[in-house]
Amino acid sequence: MSKLTVNGRPVQFDMDPQTPLLWALRDAANLTGTKYGCGVGDCHACAVIVDGEALRSCLITIAEAEGRFVTTIEGLSRDRSHPVQQALVAEQAIQCGFCTPGIAISAAALLQRNPNPSEQEVKDAVPNICRCGVYPRLVAAVQRAGRVMQRRERIGAAPAPGISAEDAARAVPAMALPQDNREEPDQ
Ligand code: FES
Ligand code: FES
Repeated sequence: MSKLTVNGRPVQFDMDPQTPLLWALRDAANLTGTKYGCGVGDCHACAVIVDGEALRSCLITIAEAEGRFVTTIEGLSRDRSHPVQQALVAEQAIQCGFCTPGIAISAAALLQRNPNPSEQEVKDAVPNICRCGVYPRLVAAVQRAGRVMQRRERIGAAPAPGISAEDAARAVPAMALPQDNREEPDQ
C-alpha cells in the first residue's frame, strides 16, 4: 500500500510498490492528463510535479513517491487558470495533447522556483522532446507566465474547460480513502 498526496488529496495505491507512478496515476487514479510517451525517460510527456520538482513519472515507482506531494496537470488549476496554461493559449504555444501536459508541468515547476527565467533556463527546464516546432512561442509563453505570476502582466482568461477536474479524476477504488474502502458485508 503506497500512500501519497495527489493534487491535494491523500490517496493510497493498493498496487505493486514497484509500479511506475505514471501507471498508478493513469490507470488507478484515472488522471489521464499525464501522458505515456516513451516510457524510458526521454520524452518528458509524463512529467508531474513531485515536492516542487518536475519529475518523469515513468521513472518513479509508487514506493519512491510514498509520502510525497504530487501535482498532475489536472491539479495545476481547476479551470485552466494557471498562468502557464493561460500563457500557452495566449502565445499560441499549445502543442499536441501528448506533449502539452508535460510541457505545462515542467514550466510550472520552473516558475515556482524562478519566475523570471532566461531563454536558456526555459529550454533547460522544459526539455520535452518534440519536433513539431513552437519553440520560440513556447519560450515566450513561459516567460510571460512568469511575469503574470509576479503580477507584472495580466492575461485575459482562456475559455473554461468542458470537463471538471472531479470528472477527470472520478473516484475509483485505488483512490478511495481507507474508510471508504471497506468491503460490503455478505448478505
Ligand atoms: S513517458 Fe516518461 S519520459 Fe517519456
Ligand atoms: S509530438 Fe506532440 S506536439 Fe509534437
